[in-house]
Amino acid sequence: MKRIAVLTSGGDSPGMNAAIRAVVRTGISEGMEVIGIRRGYQGLVEGNFILMDTGSVSGIINQGGTILHSARSLEFKTPEGFARAVDNLHQAGIDGLVVIGGNGSQRGNYELHRQADFPVVGVASTIDNDLYGSDYTIGFDTAVNTALESIDRLRDTATSHDRIFIIEVMGRSRGFVALHVGIAGGAEAVLIPELPWTLEEVVDVIQRGYRRGKKSYLIVVAEGAAHGIQLAEQVEAATGYETRATVLGHVQRGGSPSAADRVLASQLGAYAVRFLKSGERGVLVGEQNECIVTTPLEEVWSKDKPLDPEMIELVKVLGA
Ligand code: F6P
Repeated sequence: MKRIAVLTSGGDSPGMNAAIRAVVRTGISEGMEVIGIRRGYQGLVEGNFILMDTGSVSGIINQGGTILHSARSLEFKTPEGFARAVDNLHQAGIDGLVVIGGNGSQRGNYELHRQADFPVVGVASTIDNDLYGSDYTIGFDTAVNTALESIDRLRDTATSHDRIFIIEVMGRSRGFVALHVGIAGGAEAVLIPELPWTLEEVVDVIQRGYRRGKKSYLIVVAEGAAHGIQLAEQVEAATGYETRATVLGHVQRGGSPSAADRVLASQLGAYAVRFLKSGERGVLVGEQNECIVTTPLEEVWSKDKPLDPEMIELVKVLGA
């Protein structure tokens, strides 16, 4: 393998730059040329390629976002766009591709493997932590800590004003961020997309607390479980207690990566290159039980990563 390429795709996550750096520097140390593809799969379709050298990834390990930029490409999903992307890879003499991204990105990667038989590996990177095949994904730790910082601040106001705060965090279809942030922030309740909930249950948690003299509440909701602002209105109407909503939104996606994310990204990026070189392809590189492992991409996009039921129980017991 003489020339490999790397791209970042989907939602940016803190640590993507550390992963790019690891791919570039490991590739060069293994005697390969490394091409950076700008703007994810869209850049692949457009042939937006640059040659990376060791210096091109200097001073980025501490930066959030991605120096290669990202995009959610609709064109790559069309037969014409896909064919152009494959053609561009061949034209540029690229022998292998590393895709750093989450679920949607690894689905695209799988299609390159399945339809074009192109040597690809994926690197597990999304703040959502919802990739089957990796206990943790690059960016999750930072996103949880970013949300936690805001929640700690909101607790000050909730306590000072005897208020209920509904805090909406990211997670369209999975509740990993909400669950971790809820436990770490000492939330009274956490609503996640995976579990049905009712307004009555939320109100019940609040009323039980009030009977014990509790005056302030933090309720964390994943964006896919409830609309924070609407829920705050409903809770205030049902309880009569002052309720405010804060939607944390994209602040959770940016920022300097945590040490844990930098280390994970460095390991996954380096191993991705080594796996490609050793002939492994069509797999996601992730971490399980503190070991770097690979999982077939077909399993990655077709299976749901399970939530730990004990974490769900923990919220109920500790938030009571
Ligand atoms: O997948 C990462 C993520 O931040 C999700 O948590 C969120 O639902 C989504 O991306 C938001 O996407 P966009 O930045 O395209 O609005």
